[in-house]
Amino acid sequence: MDLCQPDEWVEQAERLLAPEERAQAERGVPDVRLRRLVGRAALRIALGRELDRAPASLRFTTGPHGKPALEDGDVHFSTSASADDCLIAITGLGPLGVDVEHVVPRRELDRIAATRFASREAESIARLDGDRRLRAFYRCWTVKEAYLKARGIGLSIPLDRVVVSVDEGPPAIVALDGDDPSAWSVEAFEPGPELVGALAVRTGGAPAPGPVGVRPLPLILD
Ligand SMILES: CC(C)(COP(=O)(O)OP(=O)(O)OC[C@H]1O[C@@H](n2cnc3c(N)ncnc32)[C@H](O)[C@@H]1OP(=O)(O)O)[C@@H](O)C(=O)NCCC(=O)NCCS
Repeated sequence: MDLCQPDEWVEQAERLLAPEERAQAERGVPDVRLRRLVGRAALRIALGRELDRAPASLRFTTGPHGKPALEDGDVHFSTSASADDCLIAITGLGPLGVDVEHVVPRRELDRIAATRFASREAESIARLDGDRRLRAFYRCWTVKEAYLKARGIGLSIPLDRVVVSVDEGPPAIVALDGDDPSAWSVEAFEPGPELVGALAVRTGGAPAPGPVGVRPLPLILD
């Protein structure tokens, strides 16, 4: 969904938020404030549709590293934004994390891969050229971040503690520090032009939920 919404919509949507969500948004510069308000209102609308509840009635808790969860309700969700694009993922299967990034050429890509990724990931990326190299970098990044968000850890631990496959086949978690890779299902997808996304769900070894379907979210305010 697009975080850039008309002022009248934002004004109405703001009413869905709890005081602490509004206060959190206020901490950003005007652009960030708007994006946070719209993102949070959209999350409430998406969860409200899923649970058949009024978006404003939902209450959230926050994990030790900032992962939001519903106070009551057995669905798992995760959100990610890159510029004005926002993804919201919801499932009943198990803890999940989603990440989206715009594919932007970066001069420091090799340095980031060399210093933050596991050596085998950095070496695999360095062997590729041009666009394939750029996409492999983003794919590696998003799969790792999706996993770390599913765990609720976020980037509070080094990225090289999670090792993922870097070839062009379906992504896989190859090694995890203190966790079982077979308990996780990971997907890489392209939610739009020049966007890469990844989703990690703890299925506990159950079959993967199938390819990720990305749908626009109708931003209907009741
Ligand atoms: C979670 C995190 C990886 C998000 O990174 P990002 O690429 O900037 O942002 P994304 O758009 O992909 O995700 C943002 C969303 O992730 C969620 N989120 C925040 N912390 C999270 C966590 N620990 N786990 C899972 N999800 C988290 C929030 O819903 C947030 O959306 P909101 O700000 O609108 O509420 C990053 O904020 C992080 O690592 N946080 C933890 C940091 C921490 O613990 N630091 C302590 C040591 S310095």
